Amino acid sequence: MKGIILAGGSGTRLSPSTDSMNKHLLPVYDKPMIYYPLSVLMLAGIRDIMIISTPEDTPRFQKLLGDGSELGISLKYREQAEPKGILEALTISEDFIGKDKVTLILADNIFYGQGFTTILRDAIKKHRYATIFGYRVKDPRRFGVVEFNDHQKAISLEEKPEEPKSDFAVTGLYIYDHRAVKIAKKLTPSNRGELEITDLNREYMKWNHLDVELLGRGFAWMDAGTQEALFETAEFVKTTQQRQGFKIACLEEIAYYLGYITKEVLFEKGKSMEKNDYGQYLMEIAQRKHTEQYWDSVAHHPMMGLVENE
Ligand code: TTP
Repeated sequence: MKGIILAGGSGTRLSPSTDSMNKHLLPVYDKPMIYYPLSVLMLAGIRDIMIISTPEDTPRFQKLLGDGSELGISLKYREQAEPKGILEALTISEDFIGKDKVTLILADNIFYGQGFTTILRDAIKKHRYATIFGYRVKDPRRFGVVEFNDHQKAISLEEKPEEPKSDFAVTGLYIYDHRAVKIAKKLTPSNRGELEITDLNREYMKWNHLDVELLGRGFAWMDAGTQEALFETAEFVKTTQQRQGFKIACLEEIAYYLGYITKEVLFEKGKSMEKNDYGQYLMEIAQRKHTEQYWDSVAHHPMMGLVENE
């Protein structure tokens, strides 16, 4: 399984904050936005990941995250010359995907909830052709909306419909087989001049090949693409972290729990930033006593789902 994070776009809704800075480098409380989607792919067990961004911003992501070796993963980078749509992510990374399956995530989508890792890993295990994730929202008219049957097969997909056929929005997380690239190449840009992911999903739907996984209540999905949403998401992260004493999307911590890096490496990384809260947190995690009770609490931590220390 390959992973792709789409971190390009124009970010016009966050202007002027994004006039000279990529949206996904802006902080969501205590870490850059891109940490959140990257943590999702890591928790899913995906280690071979490509980050796609604009020509100006790709070097900035490279500076932030490097080749991933410090996290025990592989990160590659590719430029999207112009924001021609989400679907272009697949055609740009054709050689990277090869004959593999691919999980694609939009870098401004933030997921958080009990057992998310389990849902994701299960979805990957039973994945056949294409899987999307549906989330019940109060006002579906603002989103891409999916209607599905009793077998959770999608039966209609509509972009921002006036009269939605269901309350389920399509989130920015998708799993495809390698055929997605071929199908994407055949599609033509929409009136907006963009290659729309909904068109790809519709192709799979036509063949009855589009599965829908539902993210239940008690689950948070946020698209941090507007000032209001960005602020609310940051508040949510702050409150949740302070209550639980666990950080959301702390990449080094996840790498450690997954067995990709050692306690010593985790501690040293923390020490290199010991003047700030993030660094102190890493040092604290590295020093915590790993009693059975502790591992149990980690396994049941909402961000971790039931991941074992592989
Ligand atoms: P959008 O939020 O639809 O677009 P945007 O990020 O350009 O923002 P705005 O609407 O404020 O101008 O994009 C969703 C995600 O997909 C976002 O994380 C950026 C990414 N994206 C790309 O990487 N390339 C693209 O061509 C497009 C359209 C989006």
